[in-house]
Amino acid sequence: MDAPTLGKTLRDATRPDHRRLDHHPLLAPLVRHDLDLTAYANALAALHAAQSRAEAIIAQALATHCPDYPFTPRLADLEADLADLGRRPLGLAIAPLAPAAGPAALMGQLYVLEGSLLGAQVIAYQIARTLPQAPHRYFTVRDVEHRWSRFTQFAVYLCPPLEQEQAMAAALAMFRFFREHLDDCQARLG
Ligand code: HEM
Repeated sequence: MDAPTLGKTLRDATRPDHRRLDHHPLLAPLVRHDLDLTAYANALAALHAAQSRAEAIIAQALATHCPDYPFTPRLADLEADLADLGRRPLGLAIAPLAPAAGPAALMGQLYVLEGSLLGAQVIAYQIARTLPQAPHRYFTVRDVEHRWSRFTQFAVYLCPPLEQEQAMAAALAMFRFFREHLDDCQARLG
């Protein structure tokens, strides 16, 4: 399986789940012209626990299955933005996502985090326009194209065709984890 085919498989499989996330009441305001500081801080406070859990299990699995992968965590940037905004993260109150069982599932999980950098660029651009004084380290990511192409190169080696189903299932579970946590945060924020 070549890189474009694997990428297309994961994108097609997760498209409806991505749509649910970018239309989520906590995230949709990020790219609206009327974004205010409260809605922005709510989104970051909610994203924190999901990002934290996702990064932790991915870093742990990479150490086992793919120690050469140049993973760049973003949690510290998210925490710095929250601190500047004077907000605390909303904790995790749903079952934590399980670590990947093997390299193919790990690539499915990693797809979700590395792919989210593509959308982060769009969000950072919008926030810089709507809230020019607000911090946006978390959404401001450098070398996105380079990081994305590096991910697809690793994924091709670590996810052979016969294990593609595992990668898809892991990516879908990661999207579901983000969505269920955001739903829970939304209920708590009222
Ligand atoms: C308001 C929230 C969001 C917006 C507006 C958004 C927007 C986007 C956009 C525009 C792209 C395509 C970029 C391109 O093709 O150049 C993208 C890709 C992606 N986003 Fe998001 N996104 C959001 C939230 C998220 C979240 C929370 C996650 C995961 C936790 C996520 C995961 C992904 C993935 C995996 C891709 C790659 C899809 C692919 O091309 O295979 N996104 N996003």
